[in-house]
Amino acid sequence: TGLFTYDPGFTSTASCESKITFIDGDEGVLLYRGYPIDDLAEHGDFLETSYLLLHGELPTSAQKAEFDRLVTRHTMVHEQMSRFYSGFRRDAHPMAVLCGVVGALSAFYHDSTDITDPAQRDIAAIRMIAKIPTLAAMAYKYSIGQPFVYPQNSLDFSANFLNMCFAVPCEEYKVNPVLARAMDRIFILHADHEQNASTSTVRLAGSSGANPFACIAAGIACLWGPAHGGANEAALKMLSEIGTPDNVEKYVNKAKDKNDPFRLMGFGHRVYKNYDPRAKIMQKTCHEVLGELGIKDDPLLDVAIQLEQIALKDDYFVEKKLYPNIDFYSGITLKAMGFPTDMFTVLFAVARTVGWVAQWKEMVEDPGQKIGRPRQLYTGSPKRDYTGISQRR
Ligand code: CMC
Repeated sequence: TGLFTYDPGFTSTASCESKITFIDGDEGVLLYRGYPIDDLAEHGDFLETSYLLLHGELPTSAQKAEFDRLVTRHTMVHEQMSRFYSGFRRDAHPMAVLCGVVGALSAFYHDSTDITDPAQRDIAAIRMIAKIPTLAAMAYKYSIGQPFVYPQNSLDFSANFLNMCFAVPCEEYKVNPVLARAMDRIFILHADHEQNASTSTVRLAGSSGANPFACIAAGIACLWGPAHGGANEAALKMLSEIGTPDNVEKYVNKAKDKNDPFRLMGFGHRVYKNYDPRAKIMQKTCHEVLGELGIKDDPLLDVAIQLEQIALKDDYFVEKKLYPNIDFYSGITLKAMGFPTDMFTVLFAVARTVGWVAQWKEMVEDPGQKIGRPRQLYTGSPKRDYTGISQRR
């Protein structure tokens, strides 16, 4: 390949150095700043995890209180932002809306765009983490024709998010603490995942010195795809299509058929060649949520359990090391919590924003940082002579 190494899909190219997240795909290990994901999901909360990802250490109680206060103070969005929503069709996909409104933040907060100023970088980070739940909940409320619900500073991050999504002015609504805890855990599980496609997109966009809010909008655009964040939505659609456990075998065979493009959604991962550690916690959370809501027989859960059992024993999946990933159980959980499928990737974006912001900060603060500029292998025509339009056939 001459001067360059050709590596489509970057399967063996490290694009950066990072101290944030470690994955051992063969062993199924995921660490944020050295801490196992299981411990953080079990004992911590999302804002603590956010602090850890951003600053490298778990906060002391004073640091935690200050960080929570800062994020809470910035949950409101400029009132003018609400006018953006009315420009969208009500049936627009909420990811399309989120992409637009997050990009639009870059037109509002001019005092957090000088990325050479550490104080401006910090405030941009806090603003993004604090405002994304508000913008996501507004996208949901807009899509169902309900009024926006303002953030409530007395609630914690995840309870506030559920309140903004599900409270209505005409009725008393109290956030269920079990569901708020589940939401928080789902956010922790999705918070960062080293150099995945959307994070690499944010880094690449940011490497030119672009506006931080615009870089996050680029990450949201990338996350939307069904091979990435869109897989939770696709996984739930697939489980509904399968319908009953006795159809599972047919779909497993379809996924194995080389001539059929169908894949088992929520299965397989570029890095994990073992059980995705997040999928285990997600499965437990799924059972907790269904238990709390008194859902005893969810047909989708029956299909999922059967599918997992069959696929994990099937030679095709075993040889290719295809295990359930985080998206396999997240759809069932989120649906039970009351979210429509097209909000699933939006929730992923809310959580991943902290990872994007932490990775963006790490990149711009790296003295060796350069603009990202991959090369290519040119396979087009060699140099040729221009022909006038009348001579072309
Ligand atoms: N069902 C059936 N076969 C599969 C699947 C699947 N879900 N995933 C991979 N394979 C096969 C694939 O056909 C290929 O076979 P062969 O070597 O014979 O051509 C082999 O396994 C390797 O697949 P690949 O596409 O080369 O692997 P990749 O690392 O490029 O893709 C993936 C990883 C996640 C895109 C892929 O496994 C997939 O499409 N999974 C379904 C979508 C999904 O669940 N995505 C969520 C990922 S986790 C959340 C996130 O981080 O965004």
